[in-house]
Amino acid sequence: MFYDREAAEEMEKSGNPLVYEVIYADVPEESGQLGHCTTIIHPGKVGREYFLTKGHYHENLGTAEIYFCFKGKGKLIMESTAGECAVLDMFPGSSTYIPPFWSHRTVNVGEEPMVFFCIFPGDAGHDYATIEEKGYPKLIVEENGQVAIVDNPNR
Ligand SMILES: [Fe+2]
Repeated sequence: MFYDREAAEEMEKSGNPLVYEVIYADVPEESGQLGHCTTIIHPGKVGREYFLTKGHYHENLGTAEIYFCFKGKGKLIMESTAGECAVLDMFPGSSTYIPPFWSHRTVNVGEEPMVFFCIFPGDAGHDYATIEEKGYPKLIVEENGQVAIVDNPNR
């Protein structure tokens, strides 16, 4: 998932740290239900790129999602099936809306764990393979001590 493969392999060899964890509520994956989970992204970087989640489309593309951030500082990267890309800020108290047909990945750009709550239709489903294959048009990296949004050279 990380752009710098060499740095990622180096990190795997030297301790393989936990990047993020998702605590899912036990809800049936069916229409009418609301799936929900809490995600914790730990602080860190692989090369210059901040720790991130894998990112996914919903298998049922016409379903949306809401993130509510409790703690930390982050970015939400989204890409639509039409090829539009957007990057939104996440901070304590922020609520971010992911419309239908937009994939989503979150990035911790702060120095403490970033914690947010997610709510989505029970029948949304998760497609991780598409993002695993093509990544996002934008990378969130540290540049001269600042958080920078740069183009992904692989896209
Ligand atoms: Fe989702």
